[in-house]
Amino acid sequence: MFTESLGRRALRRTIAVADRFAAPHGIDRYVEQIAPTWSSTEVRGRIVDVDRSAPGSVLLTIEPNGNWTGFRAGQYTQLSVEIDGVRHTRCYSMASVAGRERRFLLGVKAHPQGLVSRWLVANASPGLVVGLTPASGEFVLPDVRPERILLISGGSGITPVLSMLRSLCAEGHTGPVTFLHYNQSPEAVLCLDDIVALDHAHPNVRCIMLFNELLSEAHLDGADPQWRAADAFVCGPPGLMDGVRTLYEAAGAPERFHNEAFTLTTFVGEAGNVTGALRFGATGIEVASDGRTLLDQAEAAGLSPQSGCRMGICHTCPRTLSCGTVRNIVTGELTSDPGVDVRICVSVPVGDVEIDL
Ligand code: FES
Repeated sequence: MFTESLGRRALRRTIAVADRFAAPHGIDRYVEQIAPTWSSTEVRGRIVDVDRSAPGSVLLTIEPNGNWTGFRAGQYTQLSVEIDGVRHTRCYSMASVAGRERRFLLGVKAHPQGLVSRWLVANASPGLVVGLTPASGEFVLPDVRPERILLISGGSGITPVLSMLRSLCAEGHTGPVTFLHYNQSPEAVLCLDDIVALDHAHPNVRCIMLFNELLSEAHLDGADPQWRAADAFVCGPPGLMDGVRTLYEAAGAPERFHNEAFTLTTFVGEAGNVTGALRFGATGIEVASDGRTLLDQAEAAGLSPQSGCRMGICHTCPRTLSCGTVRNIVTGELTSDPGVDVRICVSVPVGDVEIDL
């Protein structure tokens, strides 16, 4: 996406040499004592501003180090923070104009069970240095912008869609852009003032907020009577995304539907219905499975297996399946082969299971 300068490449070579002399910890561990965001290879960022104007959420302004290579509208980064001495990683989408700006915005909503999101909403403050990964994700605006665009989000799904809206406005996109957002109340909407300002400043942009409403075809008809000819970019609860997908399929335009895939679609019908014993290998701990993910059940049993994104993306959590069958809740795929590594954050037991923890 962005090419590395010659100077930076030369610096990397010098650092690689210095790194060998700084073994076993590498040069980063020494320099970060003086300059916490500096790293020869890792992406890190310093929080320079926090905005808690939307209750239950925080909007972080982050200044990344030189290893950050920018992002496309709709992408996310994996943010790491240390909480009580343990490093935790979660995915958050950028909410600002895409590109390689000096700073970018991340929107974080506190989820009731979300350790990291609740911690950030309560504790994030200017000066805090966080770990980041290069931006990733396939939920992006295509390079050749569709002529007609429909952006739809629900709750915290607003962040990647907001980046798309801001980026389209910033680049002077002239085609019709309709933004439909579902939330509980105006107070809960991240950056509501900015959205209203974009609506007023751009005649081709129409922003509609719906509170305590469920998706209906009438909403789309009211927002843009020609929505069937628009490319839809959707992020939010699974019910919202499935609903829009169904409408586009019924309209004979499924190829115009695009959604954020890293939001987990869980097999709700099976959660809690699958019985069996769940054993955690050498620990000797055995519990009656409650149908949740192996990671959730391990933590509920007092264990602390390594984990990161908890969405099947970062590959921090794979553990070996000793026996039994597990289902991947993202793909629905069943795995029964002993000795295979499974991502415990997105795997639920189906019957008796033993996992090597
Ligand atoms: S925690 Fe990231 S893949 Fe499981």
